[in-house]
Amino acid sequence: MDRSSIAIVGVGAMGGALLSGLLEAGWTPADLTLIEAYEPRAAELREATGCRTVTVPSDGIDGQDIVVLAVKPQDIHGALLQLAEVLTADQVLVALVAGVPISVYERALGEVPVIRTMPNTPALVGEGITACAAGAHATADHLAMARTVLSAVGLVEEVDEALMDAVTAVSGSGPAYAYLLAEAMVAEGIRQGLDPATALRLTARTIRGAGTMMETSDDDPSVLRERVASPGGTTAEALAVMDRRGFVDVVREAVAAATDRSIELGEIAAGQS
Ligand SMILES: NC(=O)c1ccc[n+]([C@@H]2O[C@H](COP(=O)([O-])OP(=O)(O)OC[C@H]3O[C@@H](n4cnc5c(N)ncnc54)[C@H](OP(=O)(O)O)[C@@H]3O)[C@@H](O)[C@H]2O)c1
Repeated sequence: MDRSSIAIVGVGAMGGALLSGLLEAGWTPADLTLIEAYEPRAAELREATGCRTVTVPSDGIDGQDIVVLAVKPQDIHGALLQLAEVLTADQVLVALVAGVPISVYERALGEVPVIRTMPNTPALVGEGITACAAGAHATADHLAMARTVLSAVGLVEEVDEALMDAVTAVSGSGPAYAYLLAEAMVAEGIRQGLDPATALRLTARTIRGAGTMMETSDDDPSVLRERVASPGGTTAEALAVMDRRGFVDVVREAVAAATDRSIELGEIAAGQS
């Protein structure tokens, strides 16, 4: 495996998940530099991981192959001001920041290759899926480097940047849709007599198993669904209720609304730069 040297700017939930994934995937602490402004937290990270920590990008970016930016969207402009002083065009910026267009980075950083990504929270358990899109100065090699890094926390898809809003609505926000479905299944399972822990185990493994079936089967989800639903049976009865109550339309409207909101947030982020 090609182990690029990596600096992570912002070691919160997502940056921390990537850090754990990289260490599990074979990166060593010597390959990784963590940029964490708050020294007590930096000390904790040093202690826990053995990685070098610095409090400002100007001390940790020089010589890194890849710089991962994992700060919240509202912190992006401060971070870009710091990075603009030190990042060079022979490094790659892999941005994990939701909704911020590549144009914002390129305006701030000039010719630095940028890979914009959209991860999702199952990255925290190594089961994420991250979409990535390349900026104007990023080559296939840069994309391959980003893919290797992001693979540490799950699967990776390459998409055109124009599709990032749809990705955000489907896989970025998607875990919340699955949790809402789970909440409803658990609540009704409990009302029907299951104890809460059993109801949760049954639901969680059912959603996970259905996901694995979709990933491994050649059949479409609609075919898999039909196979569970024998005529006159219990599943058919449940699906008839979902159909009557417009389940599919509700979900489609929700995904469309998330896409629209992602477009709006991107426009705000671009306007602020
Ligand atoms: N978590 C998710 O579900 C998820 C999913 C998809 C995408 N993302 C994206 O991932 C990014 C990070 O989200 P998160 O949930 O991991 O946020 P988080 O837990 O708040 O982590 C962000 C970290 O960045 C630090 N930070 C802010 N400005 C910095 C700077 N200039 N230099 C160094 N560190 C800095 C913050 O420190 P302080 O706390 O001290 O400010 C914090 O530790 C976001 O842009 C989000 O859109 C997250």
